Amino acid sequence: MKPEKSKAEKRTKLIVAITGASGANYAVALLRALKEKGIEVHLVVSEWAEETLKLETGMKTNDLKKIVHRAYANDDLAAPIASSSFLCDGMIVMPCTLKTASEIANAHCGTLISRAADNTLKMRGRLVVGVRETPLSTPALEQLHKISIAGGIVMPLCPAFYHKPKEIKDLEAFIVGKALDCLGIGNSEFGRWGEGSRKEK
Ligand SMILES: Cc1cc2nc3c(=O)[nH]c(=O)nc-3n(C[C@H](O)[C@H](O)[C@H](O)COP(=O)(O)O)c2cc1C
Repeated sequence: MKPEKSKAEKRTKLIVAITGASGANYAVALLRALKEKGIEVHLVVSEWAEETLKLETGMKTNDLKKIVHRAYANDDLAAPIASSSFLCDGMIVMPCTLKTASEIANAHCGTLISRAADNTLKMRGRLVVGVRETPLSTPALEQLHKISIAGGIVMPLCPAFYHKPKEIKDLEAFIVGKALDCLGIGNSEFGRWGEGSRKEK
């Protein structure tokens, strides 16, 4: 008889990738929320994400390494997450550049991020792609459409305002909450529409 899986073996495991689009603060807020939830995070930060992270948050990849289970370089194509034998509960690329989105859409597995994303799609796992760009060109929309029909969730990083945000952290909470919902984790980061102060007609 096989031994019962330990609690640690059963815990949710996610791949989080950060690429060089604006919105690095969303990724930091997401990693903090995942840490709080006790989720095992395998992190990849692209070279350009290191730049946007520094520019927008003043943080370095090393700071993020402290709040995740494991981190890998984007050119480490021998990392465990480069193989679809790595079992996990999903992957999110946030923020996701149009470059990386295009690589994912075309199964161009030249980086660890695009390779892990392709594995996720081929294993019919949850892949969430948080694009920041606006407006979107027709070629970019075509790439995002390809990801969507392949089963990925394209999540534009557009906060809503119905939860009455007052500070940047409220906007971040909305995006993090949406990302957690898309990953099937669920969230209590922001009030859902219809819950709370709705006036009955
Ligand atoms: C400050 C800054 C902000 C950027 N913002 C975006 C963005 O919002 N969306 C995007 O697609 N590319 C953006 N880029 C361009 C990407 O960083 C660039 O295309 C890069 O090659 C992406 O590589 P990566 O996907 O491997 O991170 C930005 C670049 C810089 C320097």
